Amino acid sequence: MLIRDACLCLCLSIAAALCSQSAVAAPDPYRDHHGRVPSGYTGALFKLSHDYPAGLPAPAMPWRSAAGNRPLDPGNAAAYTAALKESVARDMVALLANDGRWNAAERGWYNDPWLGAQREPLHGMLVGIERVDSNLFPKSGLRKPFTTYVITYYNRIGAQTIGRIWAGNPHAPQLAGGATQYAEGAVTVKLAFTTAGPAEWPAMQGALGWPIAMTANATTGHFDRPAISRGYLMQVDIAVKDTQSSPQTGWVFTTFVYDKDARPGPHGVWDRMVPLGAQWGNDPSVNSALHPGAALRETWINPKAPLYATETLGWGGRLSGPNDHGVNDISVASQGTRRLIRNAPNSSCLGCHGSSQWNAANPGKGMASFMMPLAPPEPGAAPNAGAPYLNSPRPGSAEWLRWFQNRAGNVPMDAGSIAGDYDLALTFRVLPAWHAATTGKVHTLQKLDAGGATIQ
Ligand code: HEC
Repeated sequence: MLIRDACLCLCLSIAAALCSQSAVAAPDPYRDHHGRVPSGYTGALFKLSHDYPAGLPAPAMPWRSAAGNRPLDPGNAAAYTAALKESVARDMVALLANDGRWNAAERGWYNDPWLGAQREPLHGMLVGIERVDSNLFPKSGLRKPFTTYVITYYNRIGAQTIGRIWAGNPHAPQLAGGATQYAEGAVTVKLAFTTAGPAEWPAMQGALGWPIAMTANATTGHFDRPAISRGYLMQVDIAVKDTQSSPQTGWVFTTFVYDKDARPGPHGVWDRMVPLGAQWGNDPSVNSALHPGAALRETWINPKAPLYATETLGWGGRLSGPNDHGVNDISVASQGTRRLIRNAPNSSCLGCHGSSQWNAANPGKGMASFMMPLAPPEPGAAPNAGAPYLNSPRPGSAEWLRWFQNRAGNVPMDAGSIAGDYDLALTFRVLPAWHAATTGKVHTLQKLDAGGATIQ
């Protein structure tokens, strides 16, 4: 359901993109945004920051010392998470102020190429998930479905990787030879806004609202040409490459969520973005299907996180946020019977991002495994059996656990693919957009259908 809706939207925007691109000679990888500015809007427009740097020395990494310069565990993760947030505070406060003084390029923050056709013109945001159902948040009183809008920025160290992949020839990405790997100290920040405001969701009372040129708004039911509406800042993700603190996966994923009960400090709304948690591994030795309450050693959840943000934690309580699609309706087939489980936690930050890989021999498919546990249809079953639920292996089975391993970022999930070092923007968004623009065909990953049957 959710996936199909997200795809419909993506398909529509891709189709629009391809149409408008047919008028120009060659698609521009560094296009800023789709260009359909709502009439009457005279404010600032998004500028893509793409002058990717190279050859930088290793940066200071104050988050390491905040954690005592040792690998993370649930005891030092809170201090680490706070230091990581502090390290980007100055720039993110300036970005969120939205007062025209934000200049990403000057401050050393960069965006991905090839997504211009999908970016709305005000902030360069992409539709994250087109429709999040209100039944995912029963405890916090969400009254309407919502759409999320997202934008991702890479710091200078991280942007070197984007440059290595695209700067040589943006029409022929360089993926081999370790090009996709991030250096220590690469930081990625992703902001997620929801169309559900305080009127539809008490959890958003006092949240920062940004005008966004929306083509999809599941809260109001507006789907069509861009119209300006408010999105409310719900979640800020900060991911960092740090093999010292996370020796097995090389990454620490942290997320912060808006808390209406947190007091604004000198940084305004930034101070009200409180940690939901951190994850540096998938706890592969904990089978949460067999031992549902078992403690995790590679996820830390903030005990004071607001209620709404804890409603969509991932499998066995592994970290996943309200914007992350870590809870889905799944269909589990076994010996001719089929079990439908609504709102099943079936992912986590690192579980989903660990599927980042690209099969250069089959670019039309790109990612050899789906982002979440996905099973082929049972022999003899209709190809879309179980749809619109996601065909899933049995929770906790060996097949399911493929998505909950700890791999280094240069080890692909499937043999024969190039590992994407946990970057899903690259393999789920950017490479498919590049492939679609160069072949003129919508990419499989841009038209994912529900049920999973068509994905395998
Ligand atoms: C079910 C899958 C899924 C889960 C769970 C998930 N993400 Fe993502 N994430 C994505 C996809 C797909 C993208 C790329 C497209 C986009 O930005 O919408 C992405 C993009 C990002 C980015 C931008 C750079 C990159 O690596 O792609 C960051 C940072 C990020 N996610 C952090 C997180 C954090 C932190 C969590 C957990 C709190 C999380 N994600 C959970 C699917 C997921």
